Amino acid sequence: MSIFNSLGSNYNLEYVLKSLFIDNNDASNKLKNLLEKKYQGKATLTYKGRGALTLALKILNLPKESVVAINGFTCFAVYKAIEKASYSVECLDLQNKDLNFSSETLINALRDNSKIKVVVIQNTLGYPCDIEKIEKICKEKKLILIEDLAHCVGTKYSDDREAGSPRSRLAAKRVAGEAGSVGDFVTLSFSQDKMIDAVSGGALVIRNKKFQNSILASQGEALELLELKTLNFLQQLKDRFYPLLTYKIRFLYDLSLGKPLHFILKNLNLLSKLMNESLYTLYSLPNWYCSLALTEFAKLNPQLNHRRKIAQIYADNLDKKILSESLMKNIYLSSNLRFPVFLENRKSLINYLKKDNIHVADIWYDDVAPECPNAVNVSHTILNLPTHINVSEKDALRITEKINIWLKSQ
Ligand SMILES: Cc1ncc(COP(=O)(O)O)c(C=O)c1O
Repeated sequence: MSIFNSLGSNYNLEYVLKSLFIDNNDASNKLKNLLEKKYQGKATLTYKGRGALTLALKILNLPKESVVAINGFTCFAVYKAIEKASYSVECLDLQNKDLNFSSETLINALRDNSKIKVVVIQNTLGYPCDIEKIEKICKEKKLILIEDLAHCVGTKYSDDREAGSPRSRLAAKRVAGEAGSVGDFVTLSFSQDKMIDAVSGGALVIRNKKFQNSILASQGEALELLELKTLNFLQQLKDRFYPLLTYKIRFLYDLSLGKPLHFILKNLNLLSKLMNESLYTLYSLPNWYCSLALTEFAKLNPQLNHRRKIAQIYADNLDKKILSESLMKNIYLSSNLRFPVFLENRKSLINYLKKDNIHVADIWYDDVAPECPNAVNVSHTILNLPTHINVSEKDALRITEKINIWLKSQ
């Protein structure tokens, strides 16, 4: 079967059947319990990750002119979610050769803009940011820290293996182990192609006790105040069928029928979309999505191992000139949602790989803040290789071989 890095690439036949029939009345409570235990806070489930972020900011109830600092290389939905909560956004540029902003960049931004009250980190593609320093700055300056786990469920900030030495034992006291164990708030996305892929879904976990008793955090009556609306049946139907339809498209690509089918389904508006104005409304998460998220959480560890193995194959075998050395050093900590390579002429490589039924055109963020030159550069040069469960070690080697041949021809 053709290889994709999106278009339902996380799904196999078992997932397709589950998504069509799964339901469990208690799944919502079970998922909430799981998240509360894992991230040590109070959980609320939302239909989208962006909704969870809006919710966190609404709970904070900050002065109107407050600013939220985010990664300059991020999803438009993050930007919009902040606007939806009526705050302004400041984009922080990436550290050179990295996918996250540095603590120095944050310090400079705070010096120039005293209205920054919230910092969102996202551990882009799973690669950990410099959490130790960022957390320290947030504490000193009394800023709210939000960990957005859309890419990085399972990412580690420090390694268990390092905990043995006296120095690292000291560090371990200060540096938390896993992403989601540091911030005042944790937000998650269970959208298509994410680590926990429930077709759609999100969650807010309020870790800071100060905000846990806010009326917004409690359930029942508070949900009305929050106006978490009920998701309409049609959207749910589209989401139910998304795994089946994308599976069919991917399956038929080898027979040249996938592309026209994709075109038709898209134009008939039958495929669930990621970007749509209505998706910024705050909806609660129906039970069946929670069931899917629970089955994904159960498979998280094998999935992390698989992604790490595939990322390491790319790192070991690809020409070093298209790799970022600093990111490669952190593969063992990363969730490895995707494997990034950097090259000038990526369109030509995308077309070259397409001839071999390897589809990697989805580059995620191609329209980023112009005031962030490193982010702009990354957005023009990054190409993400797939690490998901439907890419075997043999596939990864084949992809590296193809890319190295293409590089030689340049
Ligand atoms: C870093 C990050 N945060 C949040 C989101 C929003 O997630 P959702 O699509 O569930 O709203 C995305 C979307 O891709 C993302 O990349």
